[in-house]
Amino acid sequence: MSAKLLEGKRGIIFGALNKDSIAWKVAEQAHAHGAKFVLTNAPIAMRMGEINDLAAATGSEIIPADATSMEDLENLFTKSMEILGGPVDFVLHSIGMSVNVRKGKHYTDMNYDWTVKGFDVSAMSFHRVLQTAYKMDAINEWGSVLALTYMAAQRTFPDYNDMADNKAYLESIARSFGYHYGVKNKVRVNTISQSPTMTTAGSGVKGFDGFISYADKMSPLGNADADDCAAYCISLFSDLTRKVTMQNLYHDGGFSNVGVSDAVMDEFMKDKKE
Ligand SMILES: NC(=O)c1ccc[n+]([C@@H]2O[C@H](COP(=O)([O-])OP(=O)(O)OC[C@H]3O[C@@H](n4cnc5c(N)ncnc54)[C@H](O)[C@@H]3O)[C@@H](O)[C@H]2O)c1
Repeated sequence: MSAKLLEGKRGIIFGALNKDSIAWKVAEQAHAHGAKFVLTNAPIAMRMGEINDLAAATGSEIIPADATSMEDLENLFTKSMEILGGPVDFVLHSIGMSVNVRKGKHYTDMNYDWTVKGFDVSAMSFHRVLQTAYKMDAINEWGSVLALTYMAAQRTFPDYNDMADNKAYLESIARSFGYHYGVKNKVRVNTISQSPTMTTAGSGVKGFDGFISYADKMSPLGNADADDCAAYCISLFSDLTRKVTMQNLYHDGGFSNVGVSDAVMDEFMKDKKE
């Protein structure tokens, strides 16, 4: 690696569940780039204990926090500032969960209690994180906050279910809070709209294998994988992107701007050629 882009920076990384998690790759790359950070996840997600391996490999401490609990979030920021020796420079929100998706409930037949739960975990938690940090002055000037999203917020992918609505709200928070945090403390807030990626959350979506290959065939550069996504996160935590804020940034190999690709057309024309 030529340059350490995060030397001297401190952060908090939400959402590393296992080696497939996008947050896991971000933690590995942030460590390689010289950052110090705290790892956090919902207490229930830590039962398998895999996060301990990541903590050991990156010299990080783990502070459990349910991202829907204001008490947990206040404790997380307080303890992180103690451990890291001051306010942080970056925060990764890599959290998503829909009970309707998990339980196979169709979008036209929602259980609204589950919808509310998924919305709180996947979207409102981002506002909770930002509001906690804002009130506690827990992010330094020119700090960078990122959340991960998917383009079902702009275009319909039927099996993405209520997560599409959660992502639309999440992206809106980046714009709205990004304004206030920029004015207050020059903190930037963005979302990255990532290609479909084989992770625990991703593979919960019905027909995910087909979904991944379709996106790959549609994208001139192919799908971005979790390591690619982590590299993009590092660039957005670094000082090289200080004036990027309130954006939804597509990281999808070009997928979002393609109408149809030759590779997908070939699939449709296969029968006709035979
Ligand atoms: N995998 C994909 O195809 C894909 C594509 C675009 C965006 N994303 C987004 O990337 C993010 C990370 O997902 P991933 O694909 O790495 O899967 P993942 O399952 O590894 O990560 C999801 C994380 O959310 C955490 N979480 C759930 N409830 C929580 C709570 N109450 N408090 C704190 N944390 C909680 C889980 O423990 C887990 O670590 C999500 O926002 C997801 O929607 C994923």
